[in-house]
Amino acid sequence: MSYNLLKGKRGLIFGALNEQSIAWKTAERAYEEGARFVLTNTPAAIKMGTIGQLAEKCESTVIIADATNTEDLEDLIKKAMEFLGGKFDFVLHSIGMSPNVRKGRTYDDLNYSYLHQTLDISAISFHKVLQSCRKLDAINEGGSVVALSYVAAQRTLYGYNDMADAKALLESIARSFGYIYGREKSIRINTVSQSPTMTTAGGGIMGFDKLFDFAGRMSPLGNANAIECADYIITLFSDLTRKVTMQNLYHDGGYSSMGMSLAAMSVYREGLEYSDVKEDKSRGKSKKL
Ligand SMILES: NC(=O)c1ccc[n+]([C@@H]2O[C@H](COP(=O)([O-])OP(=O)(O)OC[C@H]3O[C@@H](n4cnc5c(N)ncnc54)[C@H](O)[C@@H]3O)[C@@H](O)[C@H]2O)c1
Repeated sequence: MSYNLLKGKRGLIFGALNEQSIAWKTAERAYEEGARFVLTNTPAAIKMGTIGQLAEKCESTVIIADATNTEDLEDLIKKAMEFLGGKFDFVLHSIGMSPNVRKGRTYDDLNYSYLHQTLDISAISFHKVLQSCRKLDAINEGGSVVALSYVAAQRTLYGYNDMADAKALLESIARSFGYIYGREKSIRINTVSQSPTMTTAGGGIMGFDKLFDFAGRMSPLGNANAIECADYIITLFSDLTRKVTMQNLYHDGGYSSMGMSLAAMSVYREGLEYSDVKEDKSRGKSKKL
């Protein structure tokens, strides 16, 4: 259903890779709500994914940019404003990647060159996007910027690895830049902390299916899916949330406020006790599970 929440608004959307992507669902919803926007991703993602189909469907265009490269970003922003015929009212940063996760390096055995890449791609790119937009005065007064985060910025979740550090930095950038852009141009900057979601990036996390199952059991409303996340992001791009800024907003079915749920406790009814699964310190491995 469309409410025309973004009628007449222009935007820039990073991170649509394929139909599962949160950015993809957000682009579809933004289009339904009357927005016009430019889609962007890396050359590899454009080749590997299906972003061209999305652009066609949404009467959009795809402009290549690596979000870690400020020259690419400035070029992208100029071309996108030209295509749209004006400045942006909203920007979505839906970007994440950890070479340590990809190559199976655990948090106590990180490759530091990979760690730099994780932080650059997943967090510092957000600063680069904001700084480039500000330099080119590319966002309209009262505009809205959203980046995607995860509760691992606040809580330790086994297997999330150096992405937890990246998300903590990402949320901090939203606050620090949110002050500057809010003061100057009433531009809002928020992060949405989303449930585990079945996407290419999500599926790369070690034990993702277990994490997904656990979060679903712990959340009274269940895990939020990518379409529901897109709906929430649309409200943040709309004029209905003009005084919401510098926040990390949980969109997780209630997970972040839970300690233990009936559905999670039921797993233990199967008979497994903590003593059965606790760490075998001598080997650093779980005996069971
Ligand atoms: N899937 C989940 O469980 C989950 C949960 C919470 C938050 N998030 C976050 O949501 C965001 C979107 O991820 P997704 O789950 O839709 O997965 P996805 O794999 O569909 O999207 C990740 C995107 O990042 C892009 N990207 C990677 N490196 C880039 C670079 N250098 N420049 C520009 N783009 C680059 C990829 O091409 C891809 O389009 C990420 O920030 C992710 O951490 C995901």
